[in-house]
Amino acid sequence: MATQRLDKVTALNCSVSRRDARKLIKEGRVSVNGGVALRAETEIDTENDKISVDGVNYEIKEHVYIMMNKPSGVISASEDKNKTTVVDLVPPELVRKSLFPAGRLDRDTTGLIIITDDGAFTHRLLSPSHHVYKRYIAKLDAPLGEESVKRLEEGILLEDGTQCLPARVKPFEENGEPFAQIEIREGKYHQVKRMTAACGSHVVELRRVKIGALCLDESLAPGECREMTEEELSLIFED
Ligand code: URA
Repeated sequence: MATQRLDKVTALNCSVSRRDARKLIKEGRVSVNGGVALRAETEIDTENDKISVDGVNYEIKEHVYIMMNKPSGVISASEDKNKTTVVDLVPPELVRKSLFPAGRLDRDTTGLIIITDDGAFTHRLLSPSHHVYKRYIAKLDAPLGEESVKRLEEGILLEDGTQCLPARVKPFEENGEPFAQIEIREGKYHQVKRMTAACGSHVVELRRVKIGALCLDESLAPGECREMTEEELSLIFED
């Protein structure tokens, strides 16, 4: 049985600070399974107990998973003194204390990013041994030829000695301009950009559109986000 203190559960699930949660509890406004709970330290069974505040029921969730369409110009971090972060863009109703992006996209890269407070999930998502492929669409300054595709698919050795794992690569053309769909299952620094540059094709624009079998919800405008469904969550490890 997974348990958490009532003040923590209230803060996490009702979008209030831990301090405000304690105040609500003290004021008798929080109920557990229909009965008023006055002790902040009451242990809550996060799988079975039901909590309500002022008569409004809240679902108890241990973690939150948010899908964002990352805009360009925003950094993949929880906080920064000067720059806007992806976590800054999360609306108040989804904010929790320890949110962070599950993996990094460069400041100028757009598209699918997941924001969560679940460290174990993030580790599983990012570890190359779990084989979760991330799909990128790269606009290039020169097309990738057959030989380049072969090098990338076999696992390219970058100039600084970094060995990349085999990638899945499909070059294509749109309005006469060169693009490539590139899928990798690791996340080295500027990896896609460095992989194509090693083949003489430089990334002009980069967008992530898929993680595992989970596609970016294209109805999200740049900077918009929403909580993911259970089904979407399971798609990540299902490719
Ligand atoms: N590869 C890159 O080069 N940049 C990103 O943001 C993601 C993958």
